[in-house]
Amino acid sequence: MVRSSSLLAVLATASLASATAPSCGLTNKCPSDTPCCSQYGQCGVGAYCLGGCDPRSSFSLDSCTPEPVCKSQTYTFENLDRIAPNTKYLGDASQADWVSSGQPVSYQNNVLLTMAPDSVGTLLASTTYMWYGNVQATFKTSRGQGVVTAFILLSDVKDEIDYEFVGVDLEDAQSNYYFQGIPDYTHSKNISLSDTFNNYHTYEIDWTPDTITWKVDGQVGRTQKRSDTWNATSNQWMYPQTPSRVQLSLWPAGLASNGEGTVDWAGGLVDWNSQDIKNNGYYYATFQSVTISCYNATSAPGTNTGVSYTYNGNTGTNDTVVDGTDKTVLSSFLATGTNMTLGAQSSSGTSSGSTPSTTAETVPGLTGGDPGVDSHASSSADSGSGSTATQSAGSSASSSSSSGGFSQGGSSTGSKSGADKLGVGQDKLKGSVFAGIVALMAMMAL
Ligand SMILES: *[C@@H]1O[C@H](CO)[C@@H](O)[C@H](O)[C@H]1NC(C)=O
Ligand SMILES: *[C@@H]1O[C@H](CO)[C@@H](O)[C@H](O)[C@H]1NC(C)=O
Ligand SMILES: *[C@@H]1O[C@H](CO)[C@@H](O)[C@H](O)[C@H]1NC(C)=O
Ligand SMILES: *[C@@H]1O[C@H](CO)[C@@H](O)[C@H](O)[C@H]1NC(C)=O
Ligand SMILES: *[C@@H]1O[C@H](CO)[C@@H](O)[C@H](O)[C@H]1NC(C)=O
Repeated sequence: MVRSSSLLAVLATASLASATAPSCGLTNKCPSDTPCCSQYGQCGVGAYCLGGCDPRSSFSLDSCTPEPVCKSQTYTFENLDRIAPNTKYLGDASQADWVSSGQPVSYQNNVLLTMAPDSVGTLLASTTYMWYGNVQATFKTSRGQGVVTAFILLSDVKDEIDYEFVGVDLEDAQSNYYFQGIPDYTHSKNISLSDTFNNYHTYEIDWTPDTITWKVDGQVGRTQKRSDTWNATSNQWMYPQTPSRVQLSLWPAGLASNGEGTVDWAGGLVDWNSQDIKNNGYYYATFQSVTISCYNATSAPGTNTGVSYTYNGNTGTNDTVVDGTDKTVLSSFLATGTNMTLGAQSSSGTSSGSTPSTTAETVPGLTGGDPGVDSHASSSADSGSGSTATQSAGSSASSSSSSGGFSQGGSSTGSKSGADKLGVGQDKLKGSVFAGIVALMAMMAL
């Protein structure tokens, strides 16, 4: 019996060497030369300091880059112009709405999140953060055992509000929430629906300081009140309360290298010879639009009047969030929150003076070298040596939570013909031949 805890997914290419990055967590913060603790619990610079960087586990509270404030907007996906690969994005939310890992594909005014054989799927994370508010996403899930589609809110201190869909059950949305990534076995609730693969539904999360409401197609599916989350031992509300990114993802929970509990939850191992793979070359989830409405509080918590959110305390509660004017953009993948201009004017990868070690990891899931290069375009078509990721969940909130890190390698075949069937240009597909995402879940197995 297993419960999924938080879902975290990151791109890993076959050149991935994250096993070399120091790991980090609440009780082992990152060192000063690689100060930023990524969403996946590893230390680095550059993109490690952007979205997902946990200030509590980083060298200092200002190691992470300030988080761009909420922006009310509807996002559609006629093309991929506003989606930046995580190997390019440096924190300028005016230049991109989403940061991608893996292989998003444009198809008939939608974006497909794809998962080709031996890849680990695709993740889109919003470049802005919501501090409460309302978010709606209209999409069709993927399908098949072991295949998980997700639409979640996730904060840098790992508050989380979820919709998750396991591909063996197309009649349910699984809702869940977490406070600071602490696993809890009682929070998952199903919302029953009609065929989530063949039908678009609009999934909504309405999040206020007092209540979370999950709605599907305008119907309330579930309500969670903050008043029901009091922990008398720790004297706090175990309720999501910190600025969060919207994350859309497709990932393989059903890999033999994942925990048995994870695989069971997802309905078994992924079938890489399924009809969807044969027809298209990949599993896919079809996202049509996302609408973010900021909370618009006139005083904290829940404002969005400044430029960025930062934390001024280690508790990671809503009273430690500052809606301020700090800049959000790094000059290069060598920069960090404490020196955001490091590497400016020099070609990326070169160092001078007190620049970080060139072996520092710069993009979670990638090797340290070549920080400006989109690895999708180059490496590893040849690399059966494959990606090896051993990423720890990083949260020491629970010593019993397994890391969920896993390794996978190899290259896929057959994507191109599938792309043709979907009418997608082949260039769009190159990445999926080898792209890998390491999906991490803080999973619990009883
Ligand atoms: C939700 O549905 C899945 C099957 O799809 C089932 O395994 C799980 O136990 C259900 N969860 C709850 C809380 O009922
Ligand atoms: C309440 O807080 C205590 C102390 O932090 C923790 O050990 C316990 O697991 C929490 N309870 C729940 C239900 O999470
Ligand atoms: C906040 O204000 C923006 C801009 O006026 C608006 O689009 C958005 O819907 C508002 N949010 C809420 C939750 O009312
Ligand atoms: C958020 O902050 C407000 C004001 O500081 C506080 O009253 C409230 O309890 C906090 N909410 C949660 C969920 O901790
Ligand atoms: C940032 O790094 C550059 C290049 O090493 C250096 O010149 C500058 O003084 C540093 N700034 C801060 C605030 O440390």
